[in-house]
Amino acid sequence: MSNFKVELKKVVDDSYEIEIGYELEQKLIDDLKAGLVGKISKFVVVTDSNVKELYADKIYKMLEEAGYKTDLISFPAGELSKTRATKEYVEDTMLAKGYRRDCCIIAVGGGVVTDLAGFVAGTYGRGIPFINYATTLLAAADASVGGKTAVDTPLATNLIGLFNQPQKVYLDIATWKTLPARQLSSGMAETIKHACLAEKGVFFDFLEENMEGLLALNPALCEHMAEQNCSIKYHVVMKDERESGLREVLNLGHTVGRAIETVSDYRLLHGEAVSIGLVAQLHLACRLGYVTKEQADRVTALLERAKLPVQIPDYIDREALVRKLYTDKKVKNGQLRFVVQKGIGDIVEFEGGSFATPVTEETAREIIMEMR
Ligand code: GLY
Repeated sequence: MSNFKVELKKVVDDSYEIEIGYELEQKLIDDLKAGLVGKISKFVVVTDSNVKELYADKIYKMLEEAGYKTDLISFPAGELSKTRATKEYVEDTMLAKGYRRDCCIIAVGGGVVTDLAGFVAGTYGRGIPFINYATTLLAAADASVGGKTAVDTPLATNLIGLFNQPQKVYLDIATWKTLPARQLSSGMAETIKHACLAEKGVFFDFLEENMEGLLALNPALCEHMAEQNCSIKYHVVMKDERESGLREVLNLGHTVGRAIETVSDYRLLHGEAVSIGLVAQLHLACRLGYVTKEQADRVTALLERAKLPVQIPDYIDREALVRKLYTDKKVKNGQLRFVVQKGIGDIVEFEGGSFATPVTEETAREIIMEMR
């Protein structure tokens, strides 16, 4: 019998820059020329059918003009495309066009595109670099930052994926002007989530003071909001990239949110579902004494001003929703677990240093029944 020890201790530096600004396409090309991804000269732009004509075609042409080998792969816009089948389509297209390990993916789009393209990059040829060029508020606030990549399955969202950090993230605020109002509001839900869980209420006050200006895309306000979103998120991710503890706080509102998104058959956008999930979490926080009724009303009023739903729509089957809660990744030993806010701008840390508390199915059901 033989026994070998494979020594593979690693020091990994996955640091990357997030650049926030307006019309960053030329900056992307300049960064590539300056060696952002070393000597790589082959780039695959991955995008969706909405973003293709708006922004991705332009980036594709600029890459070609800069002398790079480039292809653009587009799939139908929407959460229903975030599947293993679409991943396979992107991979097979790249293989057919001759891309091997010496290439880089540039994801141009919202959360569906950046989540899916980042996952492709993590497994293509056992891993190639990728860059996120985020064109929605939702991607800027959450999806494109932090290295969570995934696809959905018929059972639930984001169940299959990888932690995989990009080489750089560009948050192009100029692209928000072409977002439909519902999509802008959807991104605002993740923003309000950040304001509920951090900054001791200062960011929440800012959103309360400026919600209409933000929805009207006032440049200085939007830039500040984008910076705050990134700062709150990366401070969490830097401490717990792989969600072994603290990162669970970014799940605020997502226990009910992710479940209702699937049960609605994606009639609800991700942020709309998170908004309903935030209100469900407020019901729980009030019951547990961590949030007063006045504080809960303040958060609900801000969600409404952001044009987000705060009740469970009538078409949702309540019992199906309760059952779907068990697909949540926070479930431990078959028990539902919720992240809960403490007042406005803080999060509850439970005994043993956990950031999610067990909740009985009965309590979850009662809250779901209350929200009509
Ligand atoms: N969207 C939650 C997280 O990135 O952890």
